[in-house]
Amino acid sequence: MARFIDELKRTHSCGALRGADVGKEVVLFGWVQYTRDFGGFRFVDIRDRDGLTQVVFHPDVDAAAYAVANQMRSEFVIGVRGIVRDRGMQFSKKKGEMVSAHNPALATGEIEVLAHEAVVFNRSETPPFEIEDDTKTGEDKRLAYRYLDLRRPKLQHVLRTRSKMNQTARNFLYSQGFLELETPVLVKYTPGGARNFLVPSRIHAGKFYALAESPQLFKQLYMVAGFDKYFQITRCFRDEDLRIDRQPEFTQVDIEMSFVTQEDIFAIVEGLLFAVWEVSFGTSLRDRYPDGHFPRMRFDESMEKYGNDKPDLRFGMQHTDLTRLVVEHGGGGVPMLAEIADAYRAGEDRFEVPRRIVKAMVVPATSTLSRAEVDKLEEFCKGMGAKGLARARLADDGTWTQSPLAKAATPEFRAAVNAATGAKAGDLLLFQFGDTAMVHTVMANLRLHLGRKLGFIPEYGTKDDWRFLWVVDPPLFEYDEKENRWAAAHHAFTRPHDDCVQYLESDPGRVLCHRYDLVLNGFEIAGGSVRLHDPEVQAKVFRSLGISDDEARAKFGFLLDALRYGAPPHGGIAVGWDRVVMLFSGAESIRDVVAYPKTQKATDLMTDAPNAVAPAQLAELHVRVVEES
Ligand code: AMO
Repeated sequence: MARFIDELKRTHSCGALRGADVGKEVVLFGWVQYTRDFGGFRFVDIRDRDGLTQVVFHPDVDAAAYAVANQMRSEFVIGVRGIVRDRGMQFSKKKGEMVSAHNPALATGEIEVLAHEAVVFNRSETPPFEIEDDTKTGEDKRLAYRYLDLRRPKLQHVLRTRSKMNQTARNFLYSQGFLELETPVLVKYTPGGARNFLVPSRIHAGKFYALAESPQLFKQLYMVAGFDKYFQITRCFRDEDLRIDRQPEFTQVDIEMSFVTQEDIFAIVEGLLFAVWEVSFGTSLRDRYPDGHFPRMRFDESMEKYGNDKPDLRFGMQHTDLTRLVVEHGGGGVPMLAEIADAYRAGEDRFEVPRRIVKAMVVPATSTLSRAEVDKLEEFCKGMGAKGLARARLADDGTWTQSPLAKAATPEFRAAVNAATGAKAGDLLLFQFGDTAMVHTVMANLRLHLGRKLGFIPEYGTKDDWRFLWVVDPPLFEYDEKENRWAAAHHAFTRPHDDCVQYLESDPGRVLCHRYDLVLNGFEIAGGSVRLHDPEVQAKVFRSLGISDDEARAKFGFLLDALRYGAPPHGGIAVGWDRVVMLFSGAESIRDVVAYPKTQKATDLMTDAPNAVAPAQLAELHVRVVEES
């Protein structure tokens, strides 16, 4: 054993050898992928993070090495010294003649290593599943043995990609004059934003740190301190319900800059992502975006056309907002729509802050959906809180069929809807009406569901079809129906548009702000804002939010203080790094691109976290567990 590693150093990785290396003496270290006997030879495929090499053992070449090879089993860790040779020819039973033994599917497929010496560094128990990409093994089992799962080439590739992305980001941002600076993870709890994980203080009984949901406040303080251009590839912690694109701890490339406008921040992120695509992913975004910039859409346009602020632009099927039309037609003969129209006419509903809306979407005639399939769509909508799914198919003369609406709707209303939506003969019109948030959510999800079902977008992955979009100019506040008051849509330190400052107290719903999200194929991959550095406007924002001076001091005192000591105009953004890799690698879930992820239920199946701790530890932390009855 001592000869290998001590004396015999690795000469190549298992993915490195090519035809040009024939004749060289090499030393390889790795794991046994596969063994087989053939014609008196023993073949062992040796694997490491770079690839696979075929090693051949024969008793006449070296009896001792051959004996060692006979002990080798899958996932044993081995070392081999041998001579590289061409794989030569082999007899094909199918063709009845000698054919090349090269394996074009393998980077090292031209060669093999004839072993003269070998060692087993360590044995392995039979793994609970085979280390191969097309695994049928369930995710729970793979997560429980993540260190084995991570041996699979797919995951090896993902983690190498992540490493390259980090390097590219650092190179790019350094080249633009950014400093890589750290911020604390144990921070003061501040309300708003995502739910925090809390960490009890041992030293201060009954007090808690929060795990930073992002470096937000600290990066702003770096600006106040004069560091100007900051970035960090950092972990963030959020105790949220998990989805396919959410983890409780995730990575951001976090950026903050002084003396900038929104445009400057966009240019940096565009430069960063162009570099990542080109250098780390090996594909250029120039073809689609020749001027180096991503398109933009206003938040309200996105909501109107797509029902959310992260539209997937890879396919059409936009929504049409019919609310005004319905009001104009007094409901168009449809009793449930008449109810909404009456509310608008009576002033109970207002177009400026609509509580209820009416939307439609056209499914093209070419995408034949059976009645049974449309019924299933209705169930899908009900699952999201809809009362149903009104629909109508257009006959050749523009009348509606297959619909209870057909009889009720007035001809004028029907014609107006057909014109507004652009629906043609054979098309299917789908409608939702009612509570604004519900209508948007249902229609947004229905559009995506149909996009996949009808094959406009793949179930997962992108086929190199990258559609970026900046979603800009959202409202600063959103109305909290439950609390009956305005709340900050993002955080209270976002700068309002200058021409909206006048409405801060009189009409908060009209105030737009310099917040922006970057969307890629229907996923939000980055978000940020230009910050509010003016204490006077800040005070007005707090007043609109109903936050008193005392309350503001208690919650954000340190930031408010800092803003009074010469805070430069500043702004920033954070890119959700895991989501970028997830989209790039066509993964089904964010868990497939995080080395050690948590499950949907926020557990770590490998280490069994979270777990109970000893009563003494709890006592030290001044914490008592309340058993739920
Ligand atoms: P935001 O909350 O929009 O902004 O987060 C930035 C980006 O991080 C990603 N992201 C997540 N990824 C995985 N799992 C999660 N739970 C998760 N939550 C967010 C998204 C998102 O676009 N401090 C601000 C940035 C700023 O204003 O500068 C912030 O954190 O891709």
